[in-house]
Amino acid sequence: MIGGGRMGRTHLRALQDSKQVSIAAVTEPFEASAAGLREEGLPVYSTADEMFAKTALDGVLIAVPTPQHTETTRHALEAGLPVLCEKPFGLSPDTARELGKLAAGKGLALQVGYWRRFVPELVSLRRDLAENKYGAPHLLMCSQWDEAPPPASFRQHSGGIYIDMGVHEIDQTLWLLDQDFVDFRAQAFPSTEDPDAHNDVDSAQALAMLAAGTSTVISLGRFYQGGDVVSVQLFGSRGHTSFDVVSPDTGEQPQLTALKAQAEGFARHVGGEAPQGTSAEEAARVLELAHDLTEAAGIAVLGAP
Ligand SMILES: NC(=O)c1ccc[n+]([C@@H]2O[C@H](COP(=O)([O-])OP(=O)(O)OC[C@H]3O[C@@H](n4cnc5c(N)ncnc54)[C@H](O)[C@@H]3O)[C@@H](O)[C@H]2O)c1
Repeated sequence: MIGGGRMGRTHLRALQDSKQVSIAAVTEPFEASAAGLREEGLPVYSTADEMFAKTALDGVLIAVPTPQHTETTRHALEAGLPVLCEKPFGLSPDTARELGKLAAGKGLALQVGYWRRFVPELVSLRRDLAENKYGAPHLLMCSQWDEAPPPASFRQHSGGIYIDMGVHEIDQTLWLLDQDFVDFRAQAFPSTEDPDAHNDVDSAQALAMLAAGTSTVISLGRFYQGGDVVSVQLFGSRGHTSFDVVSPDTGEQPQLTALKAQAEGFARHVGGEAPQGTSAEEAARVLELAHDLTEAAGIAVLGAP
């Protein structure tokens, strides 16, 4: 694993009882974080090159800050290693596509960590939609409200709320309905309670029209006291469903279960099975839409478009 910060540690918790995937070593240059990981018995290196040289690896899980996703991925691919990279896969759709081609040219697996695709209730919903169980899907509403904002130091390079949080809902919508966005409007709460958070505003909402006529609402926010909530509502001509993927009652367990399934699915893909997760090309489209919503909401886009 490259990057042993907040999300890297979440992956470690998710994989602690996996029988198929284990974290053999971690690259983490920040000494305080590295020391904590060493105390847990993990070999920790300050550079990826050192880790690659000293460890037999089947693949790399990348959990570095977003602006470093693509260069870290390129480095691992050049070293001949398959990559499972955290979302949003950098900030630039063009670079995301280019890396997809690089991986394909080398015959290496490259997957982006949109863990919702490994949540059993969402996998069932997708299958039921494909089998027309809900009839015509009129409206899909996806929301993600975090318990509390991340530190300003993270928000300054997150890409903003649509690129950091909204990408999950965009990928989920494209994957569940197999329809692209054709029209949208987006808005954002005009300010943040943390002035150091830059363009990473505290909440934002989007309404989009999809290619086959379904409307979708994406709701994002940084304040939901009691715990994070991720919820989905689907209204169809023959049925409806509404459920929380994560809630203050579930805590992080659904995410940990999905992250473990994601890593195990990636390992099977590296072993030759068909991929289940998000490809670089799909992640590039998600990034494009996240940039579009950011711009439509009137928030400055950080990073290259
Ligand atoms: N899938 C999800 O639900 C989810 C949730 C949270 C964060 N994330 C993603 O995970 C990524 C990391 O977020 P985070 O909250 O863990 O940030 P973080 O800042 O807590 O952790 C990043 C870590 O990477 C390390 N690092 C920086 N440069 C490095 C390098 N060149 N090589 C190795 N390590 C390096 C830092 O020292 C830090 O410990 C972000 O891209 C974020 O979007 C995903």
